[in-house]
Amino acid sequence: DPQVDAGELLASPLRAAREALKTGVEGLPLPPQLFGPARANAAGWDVTCPAHWATLHTALASTQVERIPESAPASVADTMTRLAHGFESWEAYPLAERAAVLRRAAAALEARLPEFCGLLVKEAHKTLGDAVAEVREAIDFCRYYAQQAEERLGEQLLPGPTGERNTLRCTGRGVFVCISPWNFPLAIFAGQVVAALVTGNSVAAKPAEQTPAVAARFVAVLHEAGVPADALALLHGPGDTVGAALVADERTAGVCFTGSTQVAKLIQRALAAKDGPIVPLIAETGGLNAMLVDSTALPEQVVDAVVQSAFRSAGQRCSALRLLCVHEAIADGVLTMLAGATAELRLGDPARLDTDVGPLIDGEAHAHLRQQVARLEGEARLIARSPMPTLAQAVPNLLAPVAFELARIADVRQELFGPVLHVVRWGPGQTASGATDAAAVVRQINALGYGLTLGVQTRIDGRAQQLAHAARVGNVYVNRNMIGAVVGVQPFGGEGLSGTGPKAGGPHYLYRFCAEQTVTVNT
Ligand code: SER
Repeated sequence: DPQVDAGELLASPLRAAREALKTGVEGLPLPPQLFGPARANAAGWDVTCPAHWATLHTALASTQVERIPESAPASVADTMTRLAHGFESWEAYPLAERAAVLRRAAAALEARLPEFCGLLVKEAHKTLGDAVAEVREAIDFCRYYAQQAEERLGEQLLPGPTGERNTLRCTGRGVFVCISPWNFPLAIFAGQVVAALVTGNSVAAKPAEQTPAVAARFVAVLHEAGVPADALALLHGPGDTVGAALVADERTAGVCFTGSTQVAKLIQRALAAKDGPIVPLIAETGGLNAMLVDSTALPEQVVDAVVQSAFRSAGQRCSALRLLCVHEAIADGVLTMLAGATAELRLGDPARLDTDVGPLIDGEAHAHLRQQVARLEGEARLIARSPMPTLAQAVPNLLAPVAFELARIADVRQELFGPVLHVVRWGPGQTASGATDAAAVVRQINALGYGLTLGVQTRIDGRAQQLAHAARVGNVYVNRNMIGAVVGVQPFGGEGLSGTGPKAGGPHYLYRFCAEQTVTVNT
């Protein structure tokens, strides 16, 4: 069967690469991940380079995940008082000095990359490739926001009539509350916190309950880089106690949140219900992200992009592909190849370099997704599933990547935050579902209400542009995977149920953390 052969073809260069690297460092397992070499970060790290792998492996062996004590909800008020005080002096720092602090933090992260990778693997169960990419992203956030702050936030002289001097300046707002998720416990945490700091705010940072240690280590880096003690505090604890107390505090001048749509709405309601000022919320939430594949698409490229987008990082990315909409003319071939490629994925211990897919974050996520997979087994057609590892290589909370075919786009009702892919066919024959042409498919995707990422696979240039314009999403990726937005290159964030904007890693992000003041002087 030519389709099966094509699936094999896709996997064989990877196998060959694994074999070639096996002799790299004595005694260490060296085969590269199926997901390919992690792009080298700012410091040139690459987990498929034997010397780098050996360094990371050593760091990993000595990594201890520090226990971070929970903050008592009753202590939140005192911390906020301290931060409100700290805001006054931190905001008075020259912009260039605040930017310099971020650059020093970036240099420290770069120098300590193996240590942070070790924490990401041990605390958040990241694969080493994902860990390297995440540290690099955190470094990028520090450097990018330092540069953006200097370029955009300085005082501007505005044109005006003779006899008048008009200037516009950006200031901090006060104490910003940053609430971040476990899926990027360093990069998203760092992005939020340094954006709030460089704009002159003091920051109350509440990391996800599952991943406080990596956050605490980065807070220490920021203090060492020059952030005063009373301008930044870490508060660890549950969202419904510590998080809620932070949101409710009268000193909170802004909230930056990344997590579920449901919690974003809770925060929005809590802010609206408070007396006092109107407090802005920046929310980046989930997605029911689709990829639209037309009949001209290249099946090998499609399958590669689908496997990366749906299953890399065990599907625990808000950008991840959840719904593959494939044209009926090529659907059978694409789905057969997808089954072949999915069967090649290796599940297991994230610290091993030959692991493609590590475990889910915790037992709760695992139990929920297993239940959802069991439901889909009853309702839908199984298309692809990765094999589970042998007992010897198993670690807790592994979930085999899996794909199910459904009849209609509207059947996909919720975001499943793991390696679970839904597939739907479209084309002239699909009259029952109404998904008969690409425009109808995009309308149905828009109707799901989310608006984060969209993949388009087509060899018709005009069509890609047309669909990108019709889609109500923040990030469109054409003929490639749809994850791993690069800071400053692919500003990231969506609309609708996916968040408020502005886009992280984009040129408009910092403004939302600022208050603006126009001064008009009669000269
Ligand atoms: N920023 C990440 C990505 O683009 C998702 O959270 O994959």
